[in-house]
Amino acid sequence: MLGICYGQQLMAHWLGGSVRKGNKGEYGSAILDVAGPGPLFAGWSEREQVWMSHRDTVADPPAQFEVLASTATCPIAAIGDRARKLYGVQFHPEVVHTSRGTALLSNFLFDICGCEKDWDPRNRLPALEDEVRETVAGRNVFFFVSGGVDSTVAFTLCLRALGPERVHGVYVDTGLMRAGETEFVRRMFDELGAGTVEIDLAEAQFLGALADVVEPEAKRHIIGEQFVKVQQRIVESQHLLDGNWILGQGTIYPDTIESGGTAKAALIKTHHNRVAGIQKLIEEKRIVEPLSSFYKDEVRQLGRELGLPAEFLDRHPFPGPGLAIRCLCVGDDAELRPTEGGYVVPVLSVGVQGDSRSYAPVLAVDRFPTMDAALQNEASEIVNATAEINRVIARVDSVAPLSAMRVFESGLTKVRLERLRAADSIVREMSKSSGLDAKVWQFPVVLIPLGSEDRPDSVVLRPIDSIDGMTAQSVGMDEQLLRGMAARLLEIGGICGVFYDLTHKPPATIEWE
Ligand code: XMP
Repeated sequence: MLGICYGQQLMAHWLGGSVRKGNKGEYGSAILDVAGPGPLFAGWSEREQVWMSHRDTVADPPAQFEVLASTATCPIAAIGDRARKLYGVQFHPEVVHTSRGTALLSNFLFDICGCEKDWDPRNRLPALEDEVRETVAGRNVFFFVSGGVDSTVAFTLCLRALGPERVHGVYVDTGLMRAGETEFVRRMFDELGAGTVEIDLAEAQFLGALADVVEPEAKRHIIGEQFVKVQQRIVESQHLLDGNWILGQGTIYPDTIESGGTAKAALIKTHHNRVAGIQKLIEEKRIVEPLSSFYKDEVRQLGRELGLPAEFLDRHPFPGPGLAIRCLCVGDDAELRPTEGGYVVPVLSVGVQGDSRSYAPVLAVDRFPTMDAALQNEASEIVNATAEINRVIARVDSVAPLSAMRVFESGLTKVRLERLRAADSIVREMSKSSGLDAKVWQFPVVLIPLGSEDRPDSVVLRPIDSIDGMTAQSVGMDEQLLRGMAARLLEIGGICGVFYDLTHKPPATIEWE
């Protein structure tokens, strides 16, 4: 048995040890000291980088357990009872930022448990196509496609398994898309030979419902509701709920975890509400989700095997609620609060610590974000040490000094969405031409209502590195490119400053809302 994170704590609690409440969180990168050689840590050096996400810790291991490793904050970071083959680790071996995590999992599975290696990731397509045909049986499949990698790969897989006449796609333009997105999607599906993708234009409906809404979870909720209304209209008018159709979805493995793996995780992506009819389809298992056991990198690999062009597969992920969750809104004008090392900006953004999702202000620091990771690590430490803020941003450039900026009452207006679209478009163009685009996993561009009377908004750049989106590191950018980008962003009407998000995930999330 291998208990990971809460798993280690649960083992300690049940087997006669004890767990105590921590007074300091440990979210993000940490250095693990391995106590000595043993089967679980075979192949590890004495000191290795691991990824932590906890506050509570094991205070006493159960009898017969040895302490196998520690970090500066967590003296019992791994425990084991070799004779009974029971092990626990406080850190996360399954995430990419634990350098030798995969080796530890291999040690556990193959050496300690004696499992056979029977998973071959190659040549899965024929089996997946068979599975699709079996699940769909004699019916047809309809998809709500987003233009993102997951739904495109799932759609193409079904197209290949069933043929174009049996696979129907609908793309909803919510008015919350990036510049040029709808045209891109139209071209992409045309090129895929899917003559059956229709584009539904619903901007007025979405923006109308979102006017005057400021609170982030309310925004997500309303977007979810509007999606439900659009979907209801489409499934009814096209009779998609009769027995001839089933629902196709591009759900991937992390979605399954983040939307329902634990009781609280159900809150993590709150926009996932559904049309009653579609909910019924899911309950009746009239649904095909061919990618539900794959991670993003595996989905891209499958897409390559399906012959999808790199231009489609190398697209960064883009969230379903679109630019709405990157365009932050505030109910009242407010002043910044000077504090040690910076200013507390009362714009609430989301952070994730363990299973809980919290909204808290941002700390803005007046230091240029250089390439070295020191500022980034410092930022995560600051967030871990205080519950008051969720992330730290550094000023790249601005028209007014930070000390003169204020937060302005602001909503999700067409003007602000256009401003964000212009900024996002410049960032995408420059990161593509500089090659940065291919090096980062995702690069959200966020608009926050921080600025001056005539320039009430600022842009936050959030390039991150990740493998699966579950954890992420804020990555440094070349100074010349960053300065050039900021100069162009400050030419956009209404933009007062350009900032850089320094915070890793955890303790912050990738998106701001
Ligand atoms: P967070 O912000 O949770 O994001 O660190 C992890 C990954 O998920 C994407 N994301 C979403 N995708 N609907 C989506 O389809 C959503 O509501 C949503 N929220 C976040 C995010 O872009 C990142 O890749």
